[in-house]
Amino acid sequence: MHIKIRKSWELGEQDVTPEKIFKQRRNFLKTGVAAIAGGLAGGLLSSHAFAAWPKAGDMLSGITKTDFDPGIDLTPFDKVSTYNNFYEFGTGKDEPLYAAKDFQTEPWKVEIAGACAKPGHYDFEDLIKPHPLEERIYRHRCVETWSMVVPWIGVSLADVIKRLEPTSKAKYVAFETLLDPVRMPGQRRQVLQWPYVEGLRMDEAMNPLTMLSVGLYGRTLPPQNGAPLRLVVPWKYGFKGIKSIVKITFTENEPPTSWNRSARHEYGFYANVNPEVSHPRWSQAKERLIGEFFKKKTLMFNGYGDEVAGLYKNMDLAKFF
Ligand code: MTE
Repeated sequence: MHIKIRKSWELGEQDVTPEKIFKQRRNFLKTGVAAIAGGLAGGLLSSHAFAAWPKAGDMLSGITKTDFDPGIDLTPFDKVSTYNNFYEFGTGKDEPLYAAKDFQTEPWKVEIAGACAKPGHYDFEDLIKPHPLEERIYRHRCVETWSMVVPWIGVSLADVIKRLEPTSKAKYVAFETLLDPVRMPGQRRQVLQWPYVEGLRMDEAMNPLTMLSVGLYGRTLPPQNGAPLRLVVPWKYGFKGIKSIVKITFTENEPPTSWNRSARHEYGFYANVNPEVSHPRWSQAKERLIGEFFKKKTLMFNGYGDEVAGLYKNMDLAKFF
């Protein structure tokens, strides 16, 4: 007899924490952290101590609330975790939820390679654990013009990079997803060249907004959202947010990126959210926030211009799209 044990990301609608309660919890978390801070040495709070890393879909602890918050209602967890792009698990938005549900992510190694002093094969927890685990609420804008507001949990990519000691030759950072057509059945079809690859310029990777995410809504990442480790770059289109990362390489030259390889006139290396530069087949001026009926105007750099516009000064953004 087959007994199906529900995973935590398969919770029914009635079980999912309403966003209001989630917000109260976050305030509680904030107050709680402040209270504990009175009694403990400050340094302890800046890193999280897990005996063992929580399993996929389990609650994370020791999360620090940050000021990254656009002040818009969060997209409900059941939308963030059921409407996904993850071609390794199918090309339909509803496919990854089912096709990835048994995706095995333990143990998970990440290879660090290229121009740095600390190359090697790391347990992913060891890359993450030394750094403060933060909750950051970011706008999440897909190139297909839908958007969400997501409470990501993760660490600053810059902190991780500094510890790996890139050399002066490191001008870019390249990322790679797992290549395993058995565990990722979508890779049996050549809809993209596998593995999925992405890249950032070094200054983009070091920008304080850029995150290596390990969770959302207080829990570890559900498989369909990129467990156990994904990139989040909130001023860029969602396809830069490569999921289930197994390799990070410091390179001297601009690395290839999956969607640019697939259609170079449609998807650039930079992929900055830009309402003034249309996709060749559709406008990028507006977006539909998942859950809302009317479209609204898309913001330059997805609303993060104050933090990132300086990275692109003197660049023609229609050419370097
Ligand atoms: N990463 C991998 N490995 N494979 C993918 O197909 N899709 C990208 C990105 N990362 C993708 C990926 C696209 S197009 C988007 S919009 C975001 O993941 C979607 O992230 P979400 O499902 O968490 O909303």
